[in-house]
Amino acid sequence: MKKIIIIANWKLNGNKALVNKFSKYFTSNIIKYLKNNIIIMSPPVIYIEQMKKLINNKKIFFASQNIDYHETGAFTGELSANMIKEIGIKYVILGHSERRENHNENNKLIAKKFNSIKKNKIIPILCIGETKKEKKLGLTDKVLKKQIDSIFLKCGKLAFNNSIIAYEPRWSIGSGKTASPNLINKILKIIKKYILKNSFQDIKVYMQYGGSVSCDNIKNIINQKYVDGVLIGSGSLNFKNFKKMIKISSKLKI
Ligand code: 13P
Repeated sequence: MKKIIIIANWKLNGNKALVNKFSKYFTSNIIKYLKNNIIIMSPPVIYIEQMKKLINNKKIFFASQNIDYHETGAFTGELSANMIKEIGIKYVILGHSERRENHNENNKLIAKKFNSIKKNKIIPILCIGETKKEKKLGLTDKVLKKQIDSIFLKCGKLAFNNSIIAYEPRWSIGSGKTASPNLINKILKIIKKYILKNSFQDIKVYMQYGGSVSCDNIKNIINQKYVDGVLIGSGSLNFKNFKKMIKISSKLKI
């Protein structure tokens, strides 16, 4: 039976009170559905220690939503991979379309971050995705492969070993429009095969989908062969819906 990796990306949401309520709800109502799941919580990094203490369960992991690729130095406002590692964070989300768009992050910069994450033995959750316009022009595969190639170029052929790739089409994020399960499967298959072919070795790479994942569509998405899990944005802020999604994925029989 495959294990489903569920990642909760809270983005710039939450506060101490929400972390408190969520963690209590999590401990009493969600923990029991973890058998077939791996849960990675990604609230804003300043709340991770609070949430970690309150949930106090070794099976729950935490991700930072970003890092700077420098290790140390005069970079006001930034956090490095070695700093977040020190507080027990095992994963980093990078390449998210909101950072590509709002912070002008390009493939070259994202590759530097990926390199720093790997050097610090943290697991990268690399988001890739095309815009609505690129989709319309039939450029999806080309755009995604380019996003993957820049990582190979910087980090070598084994770059993706033990990493997570999240296909998050930009047009789907926060729009209520998900890609169809068939399309998700097709794209994840193409990308996984592309990565394996260019790695020249049998590496472990896990494929996710993100973009308007909800209680209504999660079952059909995670039932797809190439889907190892989902990256959930706004749906992960609502405890009851989040529990429902975890419960659904814990019953998966494939
Ligand atoms: P939504 O689930 O809110 O569409 O966000 C998806 C996302 O960006 C997760 O990283």
